[in-house]
Amino acid sequence: MYNQPALKKIINSSLVNISYNTESERLIDPVKYVLSIGGKRLRPVLALMACNLFSDQIDDAVVPVTGLEIFHNFTLVHDDIMDKASVRRGFQTVHSKWGLNQSILSGDVMAFITNECFLQSPSHLLQKIFRIFNKAAIEVCVGQQIDMDFEKAIIVSQNEYLRMIELKTAVLIAASVKIGALFGGADDKEAEIMYDFGRNLGLAFQIQDDILDTYGDVKVFGKVSGGDIAAGKKTFLYVKAMEIAASDLRKRLQELYSSETSDTEAKIKNVTEIYDHLNIKFISENLATEYLKTALSFLEKAGVPQERKEELIQMTGSLSGRDR
Ligand code: IPE
Ligand code: IPE
Ligand code: MG
Ligand code: MG
Ligand code: MG
Repeated sequence: MYNQPALKKIINSSLVNISYNTESERLIDPVKYVLSIGGKRLRPVLALMACNLFSDQIDDAVVPVTGLEIFHNFTLVHDDIMDKASVRRGFQTVHSKWGLNQSILSGDVMAFITNECFLQSPSHLLQKIFRIFNKAAIEVCVGQQIDMDFEKAIIVSQNEYLRMIELKTAVLIAASVKIGALFGGADDKEAEIMYDFGRNLGLAFQIQDDILDTYGDVKVFGKVSGGDIAAGKKTFLYVKAMEIAASDLRKRLQELYSSETSDTEAKIKNVTEIYDHLNIKFISENLATEYLKTALSFLEKAGVPQERKEELIQMTGSLSGRDR
């Protein structure tokens, strides 16, 4: 069985070996840049682990699942434009370095490079896998749309929030795991169980991302601290705080959050104080832990010997309380 560091290495070298149309360096330089500044490689690593769960042979899956990482990075390039984020993985974002038009176009080409990777799937799996990926990709766009719509919404319920993060984040992780399982020879029923494993893992992952945006160590997390508060994003922290705060505090939080102040530092500090007062970090961590447990309960149902599940169990455990 392959462990996590070994799989990450396989993905990183596969990324380095991607061949590009080199007629325009200007188009491709930002692509190479964003793929070279780090990143956990969570989606392709999970995909290869899911493949390895059912089979000792993972080679056929490597290039197609590398496409999952390129697609993920494409969503980040465009997400950073939409979220006005200047730093990712501790480095300048593509749009801060090359400007808006360049980041739109270099992002676009990444989506099609993703397809090139998927097209290298064995023909008996190609259509099935491409369909799963493409459905997830459209859902990510829907999720990102709802995420933007929520910036202007006053009240977002916990259920609305959960649906939004399911679409923008969880479905891609779920699809990655499902695709990996199919490469490993899983039948449809097992692939569906693995999808649910990934879906719950993905929900936990985005809730943790929301926590880290406010409470993470910038040097480790690699994104500007408090960026979500500054941009008025409807994170789990905000949604939960609005749900449990008494009416005076709720009103104050809502006003603070929607204010277009130039003093973002004060805004972040004041909002964080309210979160602290309401114990929001703890509540959020608990929900993330619940989803990780649910993920594991799906993994338990997969019909392979227990020892084959160890890497995925360990990976799930390592996400609990993650700091990056
Ligand atoms: C960031 O994803 C976007 C989310 C869906 C939370 P990751 O946390 O997987 O980012 P990298 O690829 O490791 O930088
Ligand atoms: C990420 O949500 C969702 C996608 C990129 C599809 P965020 O906006 O929270 O991700 P980060 O925090 O910028 O990585
Ligand atoms: Mg976003
Ligand atoms: Mg963002
Ligand atoms: Mg975030």
